[in-house]
Parts: sequence; structure tokens; C-alpha cells
Amino acid sequence: MSSQQPVSEKRRVFSGVQPSGEAHLGNYLGAFRQWVELQDRYDCLFCIVDQHAITGEYEPEDLPGRVFDMAVSLLAVGLDPDKCLLFVQSEVPEHTELAWLFNSVTPVGELERMTQYKDKSARLTSIPAGLLNYPVLQAADILVYLAEGVPVGEDQLQHLELCRGIARRWNAKYGVFFPEPQAIVSGTGRIMGLDGQAKMSKSLGNTVGILAEPEEIWSQIRKAVTDPQRVRRSDPGRPEVCNVYALHEFFTDPGQLPDIAEQCRTAGRGCVECKRILADSIAAEFAPFRERAAFYRERPQEVLAILARGAEQAGAIARQTMAQVRRSMGMDWRRAIDGALDGGAPSA
Ligand code: TRP
Repeated sequence: MSSQQPVSEKRRVFSGVQPSGEAHLGNYLGAFRQWVELQDRYDCLFCIVDQHAITGEYEPEDLPGRVFDMAVSLLAVGLDPDKCLLFVQSEVPEHTELAWLFNSVTPVGELERMTQYKDKSARLTSIPAGLLNYPVLQAADILVYLAEGVPVGEDQLQHLELCRGIARRWNAKYGVFFPEPQAIVSGTGRIMGLDGQAKMSKSLGNTVGILAEPEEIWSQIRKAVTDPQRVRRSDPGRPEVCNVYALHEFFTDPGQLPDIAEQCRTAGRGCVECKRILADSIAAEFAPFRERAAFYRERPQEVLAILARGAEQAGAIARQTMAQVRRSMGMDWRRAIDGALDGGAPSA
């Protein structure tokens, strides 16, 4: 592979995911399903953001495995290394360089207003600066590629707005260069965890791994909370408020949905039976993921090569951006002084 950046007329899209290990149902519905679609229409970069992961508690010895498992998950759901770039943040050091430069145009007050920061910092006695500056690195992730579109869940809209503000202030000070990236919202709406309480997360055990075996999918789905008004088998249910029904809409054959809804409303079918159908639908959709994951797990070198190629090509773009940014911000002093020694006055 050459280090030339791919020539493309397509608009550029960037998104990132934390290296949380094997992906789960929430990652899939909220992000990856859409990423797989976007890779056909845009010039896409997808990044496993290990440098964001260190802003919370973590074990260094666990991080490599979490990064690798997330890479396998992304390939398993269908990201195609021939269509998009897949890479790990720390392998393109320009992200952190740009983040530092962006710190100079980011008001602390705005960072302190971020909901995610407020939530996470409230639980800590000592707040790492990295937690506050997290969205600055996120802005650098996006803008180092001059990306115009960013697929994100609703929880990240505030960070994206901050990113646009950073681009705007930088452009006002140093000359228009960065785009103001737009969110591409998945439209999934709010899918709750299977406990019906919190958003899906592996640590809460309220979700299903995308590589789970059918029995495991069933053992998780059977625990799922349904319409609370449906206490007894004979109570009619309300598909509109039922999280299990919401999941049916994503996974079950659309032709079957009217029957699922009807049988719920009339109590013709019990919740357990309804969940059984859902578990089967999910298992069917995830089956090819398990197959592809097995393929890549047997070939770890192939995964490493894909990530290396991704980092190399992403790095080529990032280096071009940084050359311009350094010039604009006065860090091309060597060239400026060289020019002066050649006889001219130091100039830009
Ligand atoms: N903060 C995002 C999340 O937790 C992950 C992320 C990091 C990201 N950098 C990004 C998402 C850039 C989109 C664009 O989900």
C-alpha cells in the first residue's frame, strides 16, 4: 500500500468508538449499522479512540485486548477495509497535537458546561484534566481530517456543537480552513437497555454482545423488561411503550410486525413467546457477524495489517492538515527564518 491518500470526490465522514472490547447491541443499533451503510456513500474514517479511553479508570494491561476486540467487532458487522479506513487513534499522533493547539481556542467555561463532563466529574473527588478536555480531543479527531459529517448518537450532539465552535474560533483567528462538521444522526431513537432502566452497557449487563451465541442471546432477551402494565399473561400490552417491541422493529421481518403488535394488544401471545421470536430474529441477524469474527480471530495478523494500513492512510491526511495548521499558527519559524537568511524579511 502506498502512503498516498485516496483520491475521492466523496465527502468525508469521521466517527470514533471507545475500545470497550466486544461491541454490543447498543453499539450496533446506535452506530455501527449506520457506519456500514455510510462506507458506500462517503469517504469514511472510523477510529478506535484509545486515547479517550484513558480519561476514565482503566487497566493498562486490558487496553490492547479491548482495542483488538473492538476492531474484530467492527470488521464482523461489515466494515470493509477496502471501502473505509479503520484505525486506532494513538497510531496517528496528529490527533493529540491538534488537540493541544485547539486548547488555545477553547473556553474552559464551555467544557465545564458539557453534560457528560458534569455527570462524570460529579462522581469524582479528583477530576483529571483529560476528562474536561475530552471533547477537545474529539474535535481534533474530526477536524484533523477536515471531516464534514459525523455519525453520532444524540448523547454526542453537544460535543459536536463544541467542535463546530472550535472550528469557528480557530478560523476567525487564523484564517478559514476547517469545516464546521454536521452531525449525521442515526434516527434509531432511544433504545433502552434490556432492564428498561439505563442505556445499554456491558457493565450493567443489560445488553447482548454482537458475537453472542443464540443461547446467550436468548438468556439475555428473556430477562428483558416489557410493558409494565402487562402483569399477567392475559393483560393486553402496548407495543408503543414496550422496549421488546421497539427491538422487534429493528430485527424482525417487517411483514411479521403487524402480527407481533396485534398479538401483544390482544394478549394472544405472551411476552415470553414474543421475546423468543425477538431472540431468534437477533440471532439470525448476528449469525454472519459471528462467522466473520471467527475468521478474523484466526487471523490476528490480518487485523493488525488492516489497522496499520488505516493508520498509514489516515496519517497521510492528518500530516497534510497539520502542516497547514502549524504554518497558520506561526510554528513554521524554521522556514520563516531560513527565508530571512536568504535575504528577505521573515514573512509568512
Ligand atoms: N466520544 C465518543 C463516544 O463516546 C467517541 C468519539 C471520540 C467520537 N472521538 C470522536 C465520536 C469523534 C465521533 C467523532 O461515543
